[in-house]
Amino acid sequence: MADLEGVKAEKNYHTGEPFAVKGNFHVKGMANQEWGIKKRLSNIFNPRSGNTVMFAFDHGYFMGSVSGLERLDLLIPRLRDHVDVLMATRGALRTSVQPDCRKAIALRVSAGSSMVNDDLSHETVSVDIEDAVRMNADCMAVQVFIGADGQLESIKNLSTVINAGMRYSIPTLGVVAVGKNMERTDQYFKLATRIIAELGAHIVKTYYCDKFEEVVAACPVPIVVAGGKKLAEKEALEMAYKSIQGGARGLDMGRNIFQSLHPVEMADAVGKIVHRKFTDKEAWEYYNDRVKDK
Ligand code: 5RP
Repeated sequence: MADLEGVKAEKNYHTGEPFAVKGNFHVKGMANQEWGIKKRLSNIFNPRSGNTVMFAFDHGYFMGSVSGLERLDLLIPRLRDHVDVLMATRGALRTSVQPDCRKAIALRVSAGSSMVNDDLSHETVSVDIEDAVRMNADCMAVQVFIGADGQLESIKNLSTVINAGMRYSIPTLGVVAVGKNMERTDQYFKLATRIIAELGAHIVKTYYCDKFEEVVAACPVPIVVAGGKKLAEKEALEMAYKSIQGGARGLDMGRNIFQSLHPVEMADAVGKIVHRKFTDKEAWEYYNDRVKDK
């Protein structure tokens, strides 16, 4: 392993230069992947816009019935046609989502902590590859805790899922976890996203931050931005816009959709930014026009 002596601070991310290894495929870094991987990534990232709106409702795997997700059976039918991907646990999908939903599935396959733990960083691989194949998952999501006590376990989990997924051409989504005490700096996100990509993940999910375009430039696979804690809708749309402007290939929102006063309209407004090049102001106007008579 390279020693850490004399590691120079990185200098130039060439943020103005598009990723050079393109091939004829619309997803960053995937030009040399196998047909099945590309098919599943095309189910996730729209070939026209190159982007995706993931609706995340996998919170129950460690938070239980968080506010807004009390009744998945009532919520998902309302939202499913307004997003591109459903990010969920196998339990939520099998019990509460109709299989005719015709939506890409980001299957949560790691678990291990709960909200009663202080340290959430100790997880395991909770879903085997056969069940991911059975559920026709378009990608498998694994939480990665860079810098936390459970770092090594989470990197083992990520590697196990990537290895199994490559046997069946199912992509892996590495999720950058930010613990309560973890700083949300560009330095941290550059480190975490790059490690996850270097280990072979096909998609990385992280958070928006300052110098986000550098985080994107240094990551050789597509980045999708997590919504994070509930913001005012205007703020959430601004964050979505800045993420896309910064080079993210999509948003993976949970609370900012399912805890919104108007989840469907919020999902549509995010979709306008992600797929139709709306600015945050245009999306905010669109959202208000949709909800004003409600
Ligand atoms: C939960 C997750 C969520 O999928 C992710 O954080 C997106 O949800 P939110 O927008 O509510 O943060 O990884 O562990």
